[in-house]
Amino acid sequence: DVSHPPVLSPSNIGSFAYLTVKDRLPVILTRVIDYLYRERISLGLKYGEAAQEGCKEVVSRLSQMKNEMQTNKDFQLLWSPQPNNPYDFFTDDSEIWNQQFESYVSTYGVSPKWFAASWLYAECYMYARIHEALYLCDPLRDFDPFEEQKQKSLVDSQIAVEALTDKVSSICSALSSHTQDQLKQHVLKFFEVSLWGNKCDLSISSGGECCQAEDVFSSLEKLRSNIIVNDSNMLWQLLISLPEDQRDIALVLDNAGFELISDLCLMTILMEAGLTTSLTLYPKTRPWFVSDALEKDLRWTVDKLRSNSGSGGQIATKWSSYLSDGRWKICNSKFWTTGYDYAEMSKLSPDLYSQLSKASLIIFKGDLNYRKLTGDLEWPTDTKFEYALQDFRPTPLLAVRTAKGGPVVGLLPGQSKTISSVDRDWNINGDYGMIQLCTFS
Ligand code: F6P
Ligand code: MG
Repeated sequence: DVSHPPVLSPSNIGSFAYLTVKDRLPVILTRVIDYLYRERISLGLKYGEAAQEGCKEVVSRLSQMKNEMQTNKDFQLLWSPQPNNPYDFFTDDSEIWNQQFESYVSTYGVSPKWFAASWLYAECYMYARIHEALYLCDPLRDFDPFEEQKQKSLVDSQIAVEALTDKVSSICSALSSHTQDQLKQHVLKFFEVSLWGNKCDLSISSGGECCQAEDVFSSLEKLRSNIIVNDSNMLWQLLISLPEDQRDIALVLDNAGFELISDLCLMTILMEAGLTTSLTLYPKTRPWFVSDALEKDLRWTVDKLRSNSGSGGQIATKWSSYLSDGRWKICNSKFWTTGYDYAEMSKLSPDLYSQLSKASLIIFKGDLNYRKLTGDLEWPTDTKFEYALQDFRPTPLLAVRTAKGGPVVGLLPGQSKTISSVDRDWNINGDYGMIQLCTFS
């Protein structure tokens, strides 16, 4: 039934969803466990002696969860702050998680389990539980077990970052002499850089290494044929047709590291060219899918680059002034780290939905955002994007993602067959990208 295909599920043995819950998630968890155990002494020095004991507690909670996952046990309710408890976790969203649990129970008559719940629910739930295990331990409440990896991935991408900021700086200094067509070419290339920047995420390598080693510019042309949906021309038309004094972009971020830099560089060109007048950045509020950017990562990235001499320093100084004069805002919302897809947003997070609706364009980066946009359903690949968005219709939106396991929609009939005859893993290996626009017109 095309009107409502089944959701991607780990109960489908052999599927990528199944292999993720069976093999990839336990590896990510084990890395966190090993890291906390190995670093307990240095964490004790940094966060106080109680943190050292705390590490053991957290390790035991995570090991327990790993066992629950591998033996297909029921999910647990998340711990909620009690009214008489002094904690005020701005990140706490246990209520919405526990509500999802209860509504699953009332729909199916049983508790959700690791291999029976949807893939989206199960995978998101793992990160909520990792966070819970940490925040139940006072000295490690705000500790991000992925931070070191995220920072390393940026440092390891230094050559590619320099090439990118050099380019931004030379484009920005010559903007007045560009024809509209030249500007269009530059802008669309930066959308492509931001697209391929999404290849580097640390959850697809199960928390192993991932960086952008080379200058991406040299490969853009070669990679272009791997963009299986490319709405760049329509996107350009939309950008230039917006009223000149009101070009507000909302950017729903994905990964820290090179991808974040590529996104901010794209936004810099749009700002300097007057194609954007204000930008709202949406990071995550808890450690998420290993490499997703938190506000802390965003600020660290700006500071890190600002300390560079050369173009990186110059560009990051611009970012700081955009942030301090309010043209760029960082907006935190708990909704991004729930297990719900975006069709549920207007009901569950009406404020966020109405805030997004006011933007001229929302850009969603990455594979997980795409999964949440399309409900993570097994859509036939020639389903219309607008149809797959179901009830999520805030304002024109653009998905920029490399395909890493989530659904793919909006292809031409027969297109997926042609691609899979060349590359069997085309929809999971991150080699194919989409720049996909929906204007709801
Ligand atoms: O575990 C797989 C996954 O959920 C995939 O959908 C994707 O490969 C990754 O995690 C997250 O990717 P991204 O950082 O692009 O959202
Ligand atoms: Mg990510």
